[in-house]
Amino acid sequence: MTRDDEPARKDDAPIDLGVGVAPAKTRAVRDETEISTGPDGSPLAAQPAWRQDFPIDWPVDQFVARRDFAKFLVLTSGAFVTGHAWIAAQHLVRSRRPPLPRTRVGSLSALKPGTSQVFAYPNAHDKCLLIRTADGEVLAYSQACTHLSCAVVPRLAEGVLHCPCHEGYFDLKTGRNIGGPPPRPLPKIELSIEGDDVFAVGVDERTV
Ligand code: FES
Repeated sequence: MTRDDEPARKDDAPIDLGVGVAPAKTRAVRDETEISTGPDGSPLAAQPAWRQDFPIDWPVDQFVARRDFAKFLVLTSGAFVTGHAWIAAQHLVRSRRPPLPRTRVGSLSALKPGTSQVFAYPNAHDKCLLIRTADGEVLAYSQACTHLSCAVVPRLAEGVLHCPCHEGYFDLKTGRNIGGPPPRPLPKIELSIEGDDVFAVGVDERTV
């Protein structure tokens, strides 16, 4: 008996390597546990769009993850570019601003160690605090809390500036936010001391 005359054995059945198999056919032979179904049992195509975007089972999760990853890349790249454009625009606007005025805001003889006073800078509605610490250091900050702009109150003995609106705290020596909701330090007023006179000459808007 020649090889051609032998009956085909079960082991000789062609092996499907999955090459060229239509996706629909592949899905048809999947194990039932691998097929995505909504919690109500109806097919995925009948589920609301949000459920298709956030599948809870593995097969579709794999499929959507790729699409979501592409979305994520596009969105984060867009946000990144927009953020940089915004920073560049801000920088341009700031660099073209006229320099702030040089304004006399107090005198050392009137500002005893351990006291503070309010002044306006650079405009009449921009309230600031001129502070002389117990060890004689002269500091100045914007009085507007960086949370929602309530007026901060110096507590010199405790070494802090306190915002009573939502219990925000700033360090007296640096103006940095150290407690409560304020997201960034108080703007620092740049000072120039000439003899007895204290001049405000600029504002350092800090973000960290
Ligand atoms: S306004 Fe200052 S903590 Fe909210």
